[in-house]
Formats: sequence, structure tokens, C-alpha cells
Amino acid sequence: MSHIDIAVQERVTRDESQEIWPVYDEVFHDTASEDEWLQFWEKHCSRTGFKVALARSDGDLVAFAYGYTGQPGQWWTDQAMGVLDPQVALEWLGGHFELVSIGVIPGVQGHGIGRRLLETLTTGLTQERWMLMTTADATDPARRLYASDGWIELGPGLSAEKVIMGKLNSRAA
Ligand SMILES: CC(C)(COP(=O)(O)OP(=O)(O)OC[C@H]1O[C@@H](n2cnc3c(N)ncnc32)[C@H](O)[C@@H]1OP(=O)(O)O)[C@@H](O)C(=O)NCCC(=O)NCCS
Repeated sequence: MSHIDIAVQERVTRDESQEIWPVYDEVFHDTASEDEWLQFWEKHCSRTGFKVALARSDGDLVAFAYGYTGQPGQWWTDQAMGVLDPQVALEWLGGHFELVSIGVIPGVQGHGIGRRLLETLTTGLTQERWMLMTTADATDPARRLYASDGWIELGPGLSAEKVIMGKLNSRAA
């Protein structure tokens, strides 16, 4: 496989957003149109602590990962508050880094790009607690990646097929 360049950014241009949508769509197939995706993407881009890692092969975007600082009043944080054990919710939610999405296009999965993206995105984060929601299937590639990177299961997700995971930032001040 050709060389992969990874860049981390705190802002994205309109052109970059237009590049990310087809990659997102190819990986997840869960959003009807680019306009629908842009509604949540642009909201997420504007949040405090927004950070995205973009992986390119010969200039073409092949993978991305992003997150921001989760706070009460945001939809996911409020929903997670309702499903996690109250003590866990109190300890973890609010001011956490929320890893919203990580995706590698199918043609280049399994070549170490996802692991590099996760490492690059989280390097230098100042939030003490990191959180994400993923499949409850512990054999899924994403679950294996998170487990091997030190993420632990915190409790149920927002549906029966999901779990919420967390990781403490070992480098936080
Ligand atoms: C999950 C995903 C981001 C991983 O990226 P990737 O580039 O394919 O993964 P990597 O090659 O970096 O592998 C990292 C680890 O993931 C796990 N993994 C990757 N592919 C796997 C597979 N086919 N089967 C089992 N585990 C796998 C392994 O633990 C691997 O570590 P190892 O190589 O040391 O064993 C990618 O497969 C993807 O985009 N999947 C679809 C979208 C998705 O599920 N996103 C996460 C939503 S929460």
C-alpha cells in the first residue's frame, strides 16, 4: 500500500468537508444525503475542542476520525447520562473528549490506518476522560482496536447493539 499521510486539524474548509462526505458514506451508509450529513457535521465542527484527523493516500482521502469536548446540553451527552449507571455518568460525562467517528474506506482497512488515526487524534488531548459509543460485538474490528488501545466498557449504549467505552488520559495534567 502507498504511503499514508495523516494531518490533524481543528478546522475544516468547505472543500475538505466535501471530501469527507463520500468517505463517510462509503464507510457507514447510514445517512440519506450529503445535506443531511452536513447538518450534524457542521454542528460538530463548531463545537469546542473539535479535532479531526485526515488520512490521505497519494492525496486522496481514505480515512478520518474526529471528536470534540462533550458537555451537558449536547444530545449524546444527555442521552448517555440516562443510560449509564448514575455514578459512572457523574464521573465520566461532561468535559470529556468524545470520539464521534472513525472510519477507514473498506479497500484499505486492516493495514494499520485506523490505529494510527486514533493515536494521532488523541495525542496531545487535554481532556482527562475520553468516551465513545460502539458496537456491543466484542469481536468487531473497532472493538478490538479500542480494547487494544486501552479503552474499557463503561456500560450500555443508546441501543441494545451498542456499548459506551471510556479511556483515562494518561498524559493529562
Ligand atoms: C474499525 C476501523 C476504524 C479500524 O481501522 P483499520 O485501519 O481497519 O484497523 P487497523 O488495521 O489499524 O487495525 C487496528 C486493530 O483493529 C483490529 N482489527 C482491524 N481489522 C480487524 C479485523 N478484520 N478483524 C479483527 N480485528 C481487526 C485489530 O485489533 C487491529 O490491531 P492488530 O492489527 O494489532 O491486530 C475500520 O475497520 C473501519 O472503518 N470500520 C468500519 C467503520 C467502523 O466500524 N468504525 C468504528 C465505529 S465505532
